[in-house]
Parts: sequence; structure tokens; C-alpha cells
Amino acid sequence: MDQRTSTQSQPTTQPIRLETGTAARTEQPTAGSAWSKDTGAGAAPDRSATRHDVVFQARDVSVHYGSAPALVNVSLAIRQREITAFIGPSGCGKSTFLRCFNRTNDLIPSARITGQIDYHHQNLYAKDVDAVEVRRRIGMVFQKPNPFPKSIYDNLTFGPKVNRMKVDFDEVVETSLRRAALWDEVKGKLKQNAYSLSGGQQQRLCIARALTVDPEVILMDEPCSALDPIATAHIEDLMRELEHDYTIIIVTHNMQQAARVSDRTAFFTAEVESENDDRRFGRLVEIGDTSMIFSNPNDRRTEDYISGRFG
Ligand SMILES: Nc1ncnc2c1ncn2[C@@H]1O[C@H](COP(=O)(O)OP(=O)(O)O)[C@@H](O)[C@H]1O
Ligand SMILES: [Mg+2]
Repeated sequence: MDQRTSTQSQPTTQPIRLETGTAARTEQPTAGSAWSKDTGAGAAPDRSATRHDVVFQARDVSVHYGSAPALVNVSLAIRQREITAFIGPSGCGKSTFLRCFNRTNDLIPSARITGQIDYHHQNLYAKDVDAVEVRRRIGMVFQKPNPFPKSIYDNLTFGPKVNRMKVDFDEVVETSLRRAALWDEVKGKLKQNAYSLSGGQQQRLCIARALTVDPEVILMDEPCSALDPIATAHIEDLMRELEHDYTIIIVTHNMQQAARVSDRTAFFTAEVESENDDRRFGRLVEIGDTSMIFSNPNDRRTEDYISGRFG
């Protein structure tokens, strides 16, 4: 049973039913268009819709680990050269969903994905798609900076070497460090071990490393949660710069961060599905312009979460 269509048009003032199968306002593809823009009652008119191409369209994506569902029936679009934030309480499947976009869940033997994710209108999970190439085009930055125990320089030439890119390594190193706003701090010590850098510098190095293989999309899973406020501010500034050239999806537990950096925000939750069953699955509650999600969300659950009443 699919109730999303019926809940999509609910006015904001009506209580949202929480029964099985309800996801209040997910994006559904419309025939003939690459993605459907928000049409939920109360949604701000989405003027940017015509400016941004869709990079990913997820349709009814569910992920199970073994027989346990982690995330159920998520449909949404990710737009080019925007920052999309995934927020929601711990365990609601944000990291699981993020990993679907570059097929890193493939590396977890128990993970099983159903539904479809199109990347530029091509099924990302089609048999002839090379998962290694997917991960080159769709890079990832993790919660804890994870530079290789090598020099700064070698961290940055690793990807191009593995991918047999015919490039000038010195140039790649400088360009990626400049793009990651780290060049001025490290240009005199490129042969030093990456571990000699501060945590915030290591995270910018990891972002620089992701850029060396010329990706289109960067997935970031709580990239600032191990960093102090100054290092966090550096990364946020950097994201705003990178947005001009890259599509970014960030998972963050920090709502102020989502509000500061993202263009669009998707709110997920994990709810008990029924009185007789205390299993929780992650669901998308709603996605919309960040300003709308934080000032006038369509769903009471979003409002409760962002105002700190829940989670
Ligand atoms: N590798 C895994 N194996 C089994 N279960 C997992 C794995 N990763 C995540 N889960 C489960 O999937 C659910 C969603 O987790 P996760 O995606 O990490 O949520 P979030 O990032 O929102 O905190 C949780 O119940 C978690 O325990
Ligand atoms: Mg997570």
C-alpha cells in the first residue's frame, strides 16, 4: 500500500498520520520530467527549480541489513551544484542512504538495496555500471579525517595514479589544495606526513584528495563532527566555494550547520511502525528549500525536531 500520494497534498494544519506506509511528503517523479518539484501545501515556490539539473533521482529506495530494514521507500531528487543536507535523529538511515549514492553499501555484505537511483538518468545500479568508476565520479568524505599515512603530496597523487590519469602530478596537488583552501598552509611542507596536520587541516586534505580524481559529486558524512568550531567554519566556507563546481550532499547532526550551508534539506526520522512491533525504520519525512524547512516545514515531525522537541 502506498499512501504517499494521498499525504502529499495534506494541508500543514492537519495531523500527519504515522501508520505504516506513510511518508509525509517525498518527491515523486512525474512522467516526462526528470524530477518533480515540491508541491506540498505551504511549500515556498521553488524558483531555483528551473536553474538546476537533477543529478540523482532516487525512487522508492529501501535498504535492508540482512532482514532488518534500515530505510524504507525514499524518493527524492538531488540537484546539481547545490548542497543538500540530510538531517534527522541518530539511526534513521542517513549514512545508509548517503552510501547508496556512490555504491559504498555494495561493500557491506549484508546490505541489500531495492528501488532505483538514477544518476543523470542512468540507473546507478545497472549491471554494466562500474562501481569503481561510480566512486571516482562520486567521492566521499567521512566523519573522522582519514588521510593515508603518507606524505601530503602522496595522499593527493594516490587517486590519479590508481585511476591511471595522465596528469601533471604537481599541478593536481596544487590545484586540489587550492580548491580545498589548504595550499597556503601546506605548500612549504608537501613531503611531510599528513598526520602532522591538525584535524581540520586533515579533513581539508581529505576533501582535496577527493577532488584529485575529478569527481562531480562529493558525499560528506558528518565531516565536521570531529572538528572544533574554527575548523568547522573553514569546512563550511569551503563547501560554499565548492558548490560552484560540485554537487554536495552532507549528512549532519548539527542543524545550525544544515541551516548555514545547505540549499535544500531532507529530514528523516525513524519511527516505531506499530504498537505491536517496536522495530524502527528510517523514512524521509520531507525535503524542501532549507529556509522553508527551518521556518515553515510542512510536517509537524520536522517542526518538532528542528525546534528541539524531539531527537
Ligand atoms: N553495516 C551495518 N550493518 C548492520 N546494520 C547497520 C549497518 N550500518 C547501519 N546499520 C543500521 O541501520 C540503521 C541506520 O543506520 P545509519 O544509516 O548509520 O543511521 P544514521 O546515519 O542516521 O545515524 C541503524 O539501525 C543501524 O544500526
Ligand atoms: Mg550516520
